[in-house]
Amino acid sequence: MLDIKNLNVYYGKTHVVRDLSLKVNDGEIVCIVGESGCGKSTALKSVLMLDKNASVTGGSIIFNGKDITKLNASQIRKVRGSKIAMVFQNAVLSMDPTKTIGSLFCETVRAHNKKAQKADCLKKAEDIMKKLRLWETERIFTSYPFELSGGMCQRIAIAAAMMNTPQLILADEPTSALDVTAQAQVIRLLKQVNKNFNTSMLIVTHNMGVAANLTDKTAVMYAGRIMETGSTDDIINNPSHPYTKALINAVPEMNGKIPEAIEGLPPEFNDDTAGCPFAPRCSMSKDLCYKKLPQKHILSESHAVYCNYCYI
Ligand SMILES: Nc1ncnc2c1ncn2[C@@H]1O[C@H](COP(=O)(O)OP(=O)(O)OP(=O)(O)O)[C@@H](O)[C@H]1O
Ligand SMILES: [Mg+2]
Repeated sequence: MLDIKNLNVYYGKTHVVRDLSLKVNDGEIVCIVGESGCGKSTALKSVLMLDKNASVTGGSIIFNGKDITKLNASQIRKVRGSKIAMVFQNAVLSMDPTKTIGSLFCETVRAHNKKAQKADCLKKAEDIMKKLRLWETERIFTSYPFELSGGMCQRIAIAAAMMNTPQLILADEPTSALDVTAQAQVIRLLKQVNKNFNTSMLIVTHNMGVAANLTDKTAVMYAGRIMETGSTDDIINNPSHPYTKALINAVPEMNGKIPEAIEGLPPEFNDDTAGCPFAPRCSMSKDLCYKKLPQKHILSESHAVYCNYCYI
């Protein structure tokens, strides 16, 4: 359904997303994981051309057979919110505080169908909410965003994203602003959306737990590049790239074991060294890693890694 090929994105002269390729198939939940600042949000926003400062200079974003990078502004507006919906990190902030949740649901529909009647919109909203096991619809419809908890607002934002029955949801850190119980509810809700509506999802997170619990496929990103892709099971249980292994070792555990930090810092985006961007922080790096950008190595039908050595 979504096929991103060799995507390159710049902010001015800064080359942030580098040769990113990623596929989301029908009904699949795919995530991009990686540490802060590696370009996850930039990649995600590029799918809908949401950042005016960003320029897509190369590659293609094929959605249902059409290249989004070739669409004009009004064609992209038609895709936004209807065929592809976006869910942001902090729902309360992304909602208009002067409007009730009921009007928010109606506006989502009216953005694409100006003649939609309020009663029809609310009926549809109620059906969606019931399917997603969100009760107390009447109270919720008359509430303002600030009258609801952060977790509830995030779940409402996801339900609202379903009003135009999108084929794909893009979600940027949908659980990061929430406490762990609210995170679990949002994860459960996203799973229900995927199961009940067969909606595909591309999710950005720096939380490996979210990736493990929710997603079918994971792409590990570092310094604007994909380092490893695979089924989430491959990535969590059989990681190949030293960066993926380091990311997993950095996850805090309940048993009191101190997580291992990854020494050093990611490269500056303007630092255009020839080799692997992770080489200076990699425990396995050899001379070649500073000189040669790793090519894609296929490990199995579902698993690929970009490393000069770790696939041997
Ligand atoms: N609108 C912008 N203009 C210029 N530079 C930007 C803009 N947005 C992001 N950047 C820069 O691009 C790089 C990647 O940022 P991005 O937000 O995509 O990272 P991220 O992986 O989503 O990080 P986080 O996990 O902290 O959200 C960073 O160096 C950031 O400072
Ligand atoms: Mg981000």
